[in-house]
Amino acid sequence: MPKVIVFGSMNMDLSIDAPRMPAAGETLDGSGFLTNAGGKGANQAVAAVRLGAPVHMIAAVGADAFGEELVAGLAGAGVDCSRVRRLAGVTTGVAVIVRCAGENRIVLEAGANHALGPDDVLSELRRVAEKGDAFLTQGECDPEATYAALRAAHELGLYTVFNPAPARPAPEGLWEAVDLVCLNETECQIVCGALPVDDETCLEAARRLRALGARAAVITLGAAGSFGLGPDEVPLRVPAAPAPRVVDTTGAGDTFIGALVAGHVRGMTLSESMSWGAAASALTVSRLGAQQAIPTAEEVEAT
Ligand code: RIB
Repeated sequence: MPKVIVFGSMNMDLSIDAPRMPAAGETLDGSGFLTNAGGKGANQAVAAVRLGAPVHMIAAVGADAFGEELVAGLAGAGVDCSRVRRLAGVTTGVAVIVRCAGENRIVLEAGANHALGPDDVLSELRRVAEKGDAFLTQGECDPEATYAALRAAHELGLYTVFNPAPARPAPEGLWEAVDLVCLNETECQIVCGALPVDDETCLEAARRLRALGARAAVITLGAAGSFGLGPDEVPLRVPAAPAPRVVDTTGAGDTFIGALVAGHVRGMTLSESMSWGAAASALTVSRLGAQQAIPTAEEVEAT
């Protein structure tokens, strides 16, 4: 089976439940505080490996206790971490998360996630990549390194998947290096100027993403499921899977994207991978935390 190479963020998530969002200057009583492994890159890597794909991580953490814990957890999940650098003089990425009524608000300090530049990432990528592998990246690392890695992965013959989260306008020509872009409604509006709210606007947005140069686009719509459009221009509409309960939505989108990439290397169609991702992310939202909430393939198959 081809492998999945992830270049992405590793964060320690400091997460707390609030009865409502505090107003400016207000202090509220919270509950259910937890410190747990997160970061969009590492979450997606964990999802892909738990769903049966071999996964290699390219990333950086600080030489601190959070960094040690994150690398140990990722390796324990089965991700090859031999290309995760521990850097002195920089802190491990941290995300402060307030959970409220099934939604979350996140404030991020990138720290070591922005420490790897294009040369660092390309040298790691060239050592590990083989034609036919998949390459997955997001928007939480250094943008120049991210864009350079996407272009290099495309030139090396990898299947490239880009999750522009957080979203920012991409440089000229980047989208031609992207086989699949996966993003939510607000990211979609930033990237292509179209806000998808129903099937018609999803189709318009997905067509715009393909017109930019991406070969396929998947738009995630939260409780409304997902919408996809591939090179055959046939719209794919996949509903959300019923969640046993909604406890914490952190990492649900990452689980879906990990499933898309794992599905690809396991030989599934885009539509099959979207359905698999819907089932997997329904389990993630029913559990507390990010990586600790992501299910295995066996758990998904049992639903
Ligand atoms: O997508 C969820 C993730 O976003 C969290 O784990 C947090 O670390 C932020 O990166």
